[in-house]
Amino acid sequence: MGITYFEKSKTFKLDTCNTTYMIKIVDDEGFILHLYYGRRLSDEKTDDLCRIEEHPFVPSKNNRDRGSFMDCAPFEYPGHGLGDYRDDAFSVLNPEGYSATSLNFRSYRILEGKPKLPGLPATFEKQASVSVINEDLKKEPAEKEIAGNKSTCCTLEIIGEDPANGLEITLSYSVFEDVDAIARSVRIKNIGKYENIKLTKVLSASYEFYGDDYDILFLHGTWARERNIDREHLGYGKHYVSSFRGESSHQEHPFLALMSRDANDTNGDVYGFSFVYSGNFIAQAERSQFDSVRVLMGINPVDFCWNLGKGEEFCTPEVISVYSWEGTGRMSRTFHDLYRNHLIRSPYKDMKRPILINNWEATYFNFDTDKLIAIAKEASKLGIELLVMDDGWFGHRDNDSSSLGDWYVNEKKLPGGLKRLADEVNKTGMKFGIWMEPEMISPDSDLYRAHPDWAIQIPGRTPVMSREQYVLDLTRKDVRDYTFSQIEKILKSANIEYLKWDMNRQLTDLGSALLGTEGQGELYHRYCLGVYELQERLVTEFTNLLLENCSGGGARFDPGMLYYSPQIWTSDDMDPVERLKIQEGTALIYPLSTMGAHVCDCPNHSTGRTTPFETRGYVALAGTFGYELDVTRIPEADRNMIPKQIKMYHKFNDLVRTGDYYRVSSYRENHEWDCWEVVSKDKSEALITVVNVIGRVNHKSRLLKLKGLDPDKVYSVNFYDMEKEAEGENCMKLRGDALMYAGIQLKGLDHGDFKAKLLSIKATS
Ligand code: DGJ
Repeated sequence: MGITYFEKSKTFKLDTCNTTYMIKIVDDEGFILHLYYGRRLSDEKTDDLCRIEEHPFVPSKNNRDRGSFMDCAPFEYPGHGLGDYRDDAFSVLNPEGYSATSLNFRSYRILEGKPKLPGLPATFEKQASVSVINEDLKKEPAEKEIAGNKSTCCTLEIIGEDPANGLEITLSYSVFEDVDAIARSVRIKNIGKYENIKLTKVLSASYEFYGDDYDILFLHGTWARERNIDREHLGYGKHYVSSFRGESSHQEHPFLALMSRDANDTNGDVYGFSFVYSGNFIAQAERSQFDSVRVLMGINPVDFCWNLGKGEEFCTPEVISVYSWEGTGRMSRTFHDLYRNHLIRSPYKDMKRPILINNWEATYFNFDTDKLIAIAKEASKLGIELLVMDDGWFGHRDNDSSSLGDWYVNEKKLPGGLKRLADEVNKTGMKFGIWMEPEMISPDSDLYRAHPDWAIQIPGRTPVMSREQYVLDLTRKDVRDYTFSQIEKILKSANIEYLKWDMNRQLTDLGSALLGTEGQGELYHRYCLGVYELQERLVTEFTNLLLENCSGGGARFDPGMLYYSPQIWTSDDMDPVERLKIQEGTALIYPLSTMGAHVCDCPNHSTGRTTPFETRGYVALAGTFGYELDVTRIPEADRNMIPKQIKMYHKFNDLVRTGDYYRVSSYRENHEWDCWEVVSKDKSEALITVVNVIGRVNHKSRLLKLKGLDPDKVYSVNFYDMEKEAEGENCMKLRGDALMYAGIQLKGLDHGDFKAKLLSIKATS
């Protein structure tokens, strides 16, 4: 790991353990150009890598063709309107009415550590302090390297300028010691040519690739079908996903992977880009006339316009890039390690989460204290550890048409309030948690009657309703302070150890009473910053609270939210067959420890499908694991299985939470069966889950070629027998190489659809 500057060639070399990223400063004007991103290069001789040096279009050599140069140069952070007709990374509207931007190198510094991004979630190194260790090489021409021996991370800041707009632009690159990932962000400062300049687009990063034929992978979805993998060949022109819904959304995801056409789970080049942000985004790949590819990622410029006063600085959220030469599998494992070790802060990150039971699909709004206590009593007998009371406990809310904002207990449902309920639940031996939707306001609420201007809206228009609610204007400090005081009051009123923070509608009617005529273009981003501020205050004040983020299912399952909560509700669809695709897409980026997953009621409320209780348990085991059903009313055989599933969770969760994730087979691709594997970091054990979705006549065996094992170790291979709560008797002993290269014929899958098995593997030598 390290960052090196080579004065002679004016080249920056950023090394992670296995990858290298290179940047070159070209020409007297100081163009900042991209050289290389891929497997780690040992050699610092980079001149031949430089694709631009001998190019006839280099402006100082042939200024006549400057436009041609601009349209093909691989800019690290491309400006707008000066001859590069590919999409740009930043643009402005200056007081003279001009939109053009450019970036020219001025200096650089290398920092040990990684500075925080003000008000934003971001990856961090393990050590807290940041110190400057090298600044502006022009003063000291020797080659400098930060070897990373003191720190687990170091940061290159390239400082450039756009004199015509009076802007200083800092490109930031952080490399980590233990993961092949690079974090990039940008700061733009108004250094005073104008009193105010409007930023109309400020993306977080731009990447350049050459000459290959690529595929592109996005995660697409809708409510109850989030993050399904969508891969296509990258043709010419711009291909993008985006959100301007005010959240990362069910529909598109702030992620993009560029991959060689032959790439699969185990082989091929894959570049993954993940945006650490929860609001509007754009993720775009553009294939140019010359077959180069530009990848852009950042805040969606749609309806974005930020006023930058003299001396002020705008800081973008960060993009994480991961390069894998071993397909999507290695990319996923890198993201998992990065997010587990350098993004999630919660103390629960390294802990088994309490097994919860949530009453949403058990009762919807139709519950009272007695009903919840009945569920808690039964659940605690079975070994469930936390009761979560979902929507409907406050104001006069008996359906979704009222009371958001009125965060006081509905005493008709819960006589004695939260305290009495929490105490009763605690008496059963269980913890108690609640649901809130702090960002919302119902028109039918005391809060709205008192403060109608607290809803986001445009004067003269009746705001668009969604789920019969409006969105609170969290750009306003008074609204944020009030909202936080309500959350605080509720959490202090009883022994509440878990909070599900929901967000059930997207933003419309972009108007804030306080942002004024010039400031409305700041609303989307300020809203997101407002959510972050509230969650920061929450986790700072309630350090032991287990926070689970949620947005109508998984509409805000993004790295930004993971900075605050160690787990996020993955989807409202808990049908285990649908979940195979949702969880495969989610696990492409996010560790299994973050995926809220519950055993559902049957027939499933979203699909109407009936599946075995056992299978529902195996699929939920790949996430946080919990239940969402009325445990007092399910069939006895299912109820009897719960203690066994709980033992299974306790036996395997450490491995699932901390291990390396491998995909063995994908139901999404083969339409028949699914299989994933988690291998411990020391390769001494593994857990394999096989789901036979569709039984095939006369074809009851599946060939499992395992992954990630030690080829030289001998492993015992067992079916996990839930009845005996132990490994079964049909133990096989095989070397890791045989398990991976030859595979095993799995015969134990029963006749019929939706059957699943667990295989437990342990090294014996
Ligand atoms: C959407 C969530 O995803 C559900 O789990 C549930 O909490 C409802 N909202 C409650 O309104």
